[in-house]
Amino acid sequence: MDLDRTFWEGRYHTGETGWDLGGPSTPLKEYLDQLANKDLKILIPGGGRAWEAEYAHRQGFRNVFVIDLTDAPFKDLLSRCPDFPKDHLIVGDFFQHEGPYDRILEQTFFCALDPALRERYVAHMHKLLKPGGKLVGVLFNDTLNTDRPPFGGFKADYAPIFHRHFANVSMEPCHNSIKPRAGRELWLCAVKEPAYVPIDCNLYDRYESAATLRQRVRLTLANGSTCEGLIADLFHRDKAEWLRLDTGAEVRLDRVAKFELAG
Ligand SMILES: C[S@@+](CC[C@H](N)C(=O)[O-])C[C@H]1O[C@@H](n2cnc3c(N)ncnc32)[C@H](O)[C@@H]1O
Repeated sequence: MDLDRTFWEGRYHTGETGWDLGGPSTPLKEYLDQLANKDLKILIPGGGRAWEAEYAHRQGFRNVFVIDLTDAPFKDLLSRCPDFPKDHLIVGDFFQHEGPYDRILEQTFFCALDPALRERYVAHMHKLLKPGGKLVGVLFNDTLNTDRPPFGGFKADYAPIFHRHFANVSMEPCHNSIKPRAGRELWLCAVKEPAYVPIDCNLYDRYESAATLRQRVRLTLANGSTCEGLIADLFHRDKAEWLRLDTGAEVRLDRVAKFELAG
């Protein structure tokens, strides 16, 4: 099955749009409600009739963008909400789209894609975000279909893919799903690591010294976790300084809250 523009356009033309809630979903609505900064640049990929984009727009968010393979659902959005900025409605392929965005909202886009594209989806989401930006939204945690959308899956399937690309990922049972989806959704929040803040050169010298003298170190990270070992390598990646412990753990140096020599 080719899940291309013709396929999705056909679904809108025949009215086979069972995913469409006819209003903003509770999880995304409540997420938007607690965002104070109305200037955030927000993307809703595979947004369809874009009820959440309309809601955000009516709440005063000024930089909400929607991308979809077909403009069929955008006509519906514009008839409901004629003052939604037309140049924020992008007809095109998510995988060709460029950012960057502060927030990306997910709802029934991931499950609409062939599961073979999941790794590409997560890598591209990461690329589309600004440093410190977040991908948030709902993912099905249910079997669903294997041969057509919506494609199913579970946290255990998704988590390794997200962890390969994002340093900080949470995926928990969604507490405010709409009734028909209750107990079958995860609330996803994947945060792109913030821009690197160079560390003090005296501190860098201490890492180098511990590496040269083969002293064990204990690191407490900004998220509260700890790791311990010998520093096997100090290196640069993506304009940031990193270390690798002999355990294989890699740590970006500005994520270390406390550095100690371990006994
Ligand atoms: C299941 S619908 C979900 C629509 C909307 N998110 C909702 O919850 O009502 C999936 C949407 O993704 C769009 N889509 C599928 N593949 C896409 C791609 N590669 N790039 C952009 N949009 C895509 C389809 O046209 C369709 O509107």
